[in-house]
Amino acid sequence: MAKIRKAVFPVAGLGTRFLPATKASPKEMLPVVDKPLIQYAAEEAEAGGAEHLIFITGRHKRSIEDHFDKNYELEMELKEAGKDKLLKLVQNVLPEHVDCIFLRQPEALGLGHAVLCAKPVVGDEPFAIILADDLIRNDEKGVVEQMAEVYERTGASVLSVEEVPPGETDKYGIVATEEQPDGTLRVVSIVEKPKPGDAPSNLAVVGRYLLSPTIFDKLEQTRPGAGGEIQLTDAIAALLQDEPVVAYPFAGKRYDCGSKEGYLEATVEYALSHAELGASFRDYLKQLDL
Ligand code: G1P
Repeated sequence: MAKIRKAVFPVAGLGTRFLPATKASPKEMLPVVDKPLIQYAAEEAEAGGAEHLIFITGRHKRSIEDHFDKNYELEMELKEAGKDKLLKLVQNVLPEHVDCIFLRQPEALGLGHAVLCAKPVVGDEPFAIILADDLIRNDEKGVVEQMAEVYERTGASVLSVEEVPPGETDKYGIVATEEQPDGTLRVVSIVEKPKPGDAPSNLAVVGRYLLSPTIFDKLEQTRPGAGGEIQLTDAIAALLQDEPVVAYPFAGKRYDCGSKEGYLEATVEYALSHAELGASFRDYLKQLDL
């Protein structure tokens, strides 16, 4: 079975929930402690086996390209100043065998459209999609790697899922599933952001997908759906008529860094476990009169 070698990062969104911070700078570049969200996502993809990282960008996203590019001036300065530790940090944003490909999505026509932009580069092989604002922490094994194992075992497309409060189904793609004898959850239907009363379950798709390339044919036939956008969810609904799709309740903790609250939670928890800052930050929090 084909290995997952390619990961797609749709990063053309506007990030309106973080304005004015995201007026001139992409939301994917917001740092959690000392690393931008997009770097956590790229590292997770690489740990899962991806060697080709495909970023679907838009206007005002140049800093993402710069982040993964070499910065000669900065490297020279750090070298001359003998700051070897910092130099390593800057040089090793990604391992050498990983390459980055940047494609422009000219119009924000939806997540499905963004993924379709990757078709010429992904070609005819299964691939991962990572939404960087869903930051998922698992220090032993990242979610992409977990999903790649599910794919190896089942040969099916894989959606990472998590139970959400029943009142929040209108924020997510929601799946209905059927448990198979081996315990895997086969997806029988999927719907984008249903109202709580209409949702088939409270099992939500979060920002990790591992899809068969057939999704591109389905995306090409997908008409604008919820919010007038070409929805990835609608194309997955078409895909599961033809091919197996499984829902995978991942191991790890998800932070919705597309919201201020989730972003703050991630910041606090990553800071608390940070090698250099953790202990002193814990002391600081303790002495706050909360
Ligand atoms: C997108 C998808 C949705 C999915 C969510 C996960 O929505 O359309 O199906 O559940 O990501 O974060 P967005 O958050 O971009 O509105």
